[in-house]
Amino acid sequence: MSIRVLAIGGSLRRGSYNHLLLEQAQRQAPQGMSIEIADLSDIPLYNGDVQAQGFPASVQRVAEQAAQAGAFLIATPEYNYSIPGVLKNAIDWLSRVPGAPFQGKPVAIASASMGGMGGARAQYHLRQVLIYLDVHPLNKPELFISAAHEKFAADGELTDALSREGLDALLAALAAHTHRLQGREAVAVAVAA
Ligand code: FNR
Repeated sequence: MSIRVLAIGGSLRRGSYNHLLLEQAQRQAPQGMSIEIADLSDIPLYNGDVQAQGFPASVQRVAEQAAQAGAFLIATPEYNYSIPGVLKNAIDWLSRVPGAPFQGKPVAIASASMGGMGGARAQYHLRQVLIYLDVHPLNKPELFISAAHEKFAADGELTDALSREGLDALLAALAAHTHRLQGREAVAVAVAA
């Protein structure tokens, strides 16, 4: 069965290395996996008063994409040792929408940073934040793209061989994790029937 992945980037910047990483994932997607990139650029700051008037169209759009997805891929920068507000804000909105579109689904996490640690600290914060959504993060492999400015070419291609291999391994593991979880779901339905 084909796996539909919703990719979410933590940076709105034109030329974002994390966005380039998601586009690279689209090019490197294994057979049987399609990757769509979510647009977080028009999601307003979370405000309970706004929610009380109805979820913004931008949030509903991403929630619908999440509901249609069988798996997720998040690529985030590290901002001050954590995840950027853009990503946290989107997660905050999406955690409030009815239907829990993330629940029970797998997520692979990656990060790209110009620094030497490749965004590792942000990834571990992200794992904590994702607990409430009840997604199932891949533990391994971990993918940290350090010195990102040296690993992407001017045309946006990820040229570093080790990083490309790491991305291949991450996507393959996400596919296997998705099939494992979907298999469990099928067994649970069969047992309940
Ligand atoms: C950063 N950057 C950064 N890098 C890092 O490795 N650890 C950090 O804590 C931070 N903190 C930080 C805070 C803020 C406000 C900014 C703007 C930047 C650098 C950051 O990782 C780098 O700019 C990345 O290239 C940003 O990701 P995108 O936009 O290229 O995807």
